[in-house]
Amino acid sequence: MKITVIGAGNMGGALIKGLAKKAIHQLIVTARTEATLSRITAEYPEVQTSLNNVEAVKGADIVVLAVKPWLVRSVIEEIKDSLDFDRQVILSVAANVFTETLREYLGCPTANVFYIMPNIAAEYNESMTFLAPANGVSPELTQRIEELLSLLGKVKVCMENEVAAGNMMSGCGIAYVFRFIHAMMEGGVEMGLYPAEAREIAMQAMKGAVATLESSGMHPAVAIDKVTTPGGLTIKGLNELDHAGFNSAVIRCLKAGLAK
Ligand SMILES: NC(=O)c1ccc[n+]([C@@H]2O[C@H](COP(=O)([O-])OP(=O)(O)OC[C@H]3O[C@@H](n4cnc5c(N)ncnc54)[C@H](OP(=O)(O)O)[C@@H]3O)[C@@H](O)[C@H]2O)c1
Repeated sequence: MKITVIGAGNMGGALIKGLAKKAIHQLIVTARTEATLSRITAEYPEVQTSLNNVEAVKGADIVVLAVKPWLVRSVIEEIKDSLDFDRQVILSVAANVFTETLREYLGCPTANVFYIMPNIAAEYNESMTFLAPANGVSPELTQRIEELLSLLGKVKVCMENEVAAGNMMSGCGIAYVFRFIHAMMEGGVEMGLYPAEAREIAMQAMKGAVATLESSGMHPAVAIDKVTTPGGLTIKGLNELDHAGFNSAVIRCLKAGLAK
């Protein structure tokens, strides 16, 4: 398939690099500046680049919009007359720009449009991507797009109104995980470890926790019980987290992005 990604920043760049690693599809990426495109081709010379969105979408099977939400309308204005709505599929990653709005901008109420929400781990093929088809998009096409996005990690097909929670837990959530790792590192450094050592240990603890839960299917509370000895060290640390309002802070953090 020929895939055109419009926008090569944090998200568009991650998508294109993740797809390039799989070396299955023909890839074209556009940006506003040559400097951004050069950074992509320095790593992935096989990816075609263009500063011309109109030319880049011609002949594409899939067009991915990966520009900032406030630029979606103007980019669509630019490309819509060059699109073939019977053949081409539009995916948009722009937060809170929903499929009805995209169809309205495109001037085609039946366009095959999807609202998708990956995270930047798409670059390493470990995204958690939410995929919401527009009304009336066929299950067959949705499955084809799900297969494509599976190259970038896990995919959850969902309703558009479920993407917001998914975005906070995954699109934004990955940043909260980075923050936790950073906090672990700061604690490690205060205890006398070098930052690089603390980073390695924090990441391995994170990987170990994920592997344990994934392999065993355990609830995290059950796994915690396995680590805590009565009167031991772990429970002292866990209770400190509770006294500091850790669970509540995480819940509030996730809900903050849903606030109007
Ligand atoms: N960042 C995330 O973790 C994340 C997660 C989920 C969804 N998203 C969504 O992804 C979208 C992009 O966010 P981002 O963080 O990737 O932004 P970004 O890093 O600022 O990247 C935006 C890209 O768009 C390019 N661009 C700007 N105007 C353009 C135009 N007219 N034609 C073609 N390309 C153009 C820019 O080119 P230059 O580099 O040359 O300026 C840049 O490469 C947003 O809508 C956001 O909601 C982001």
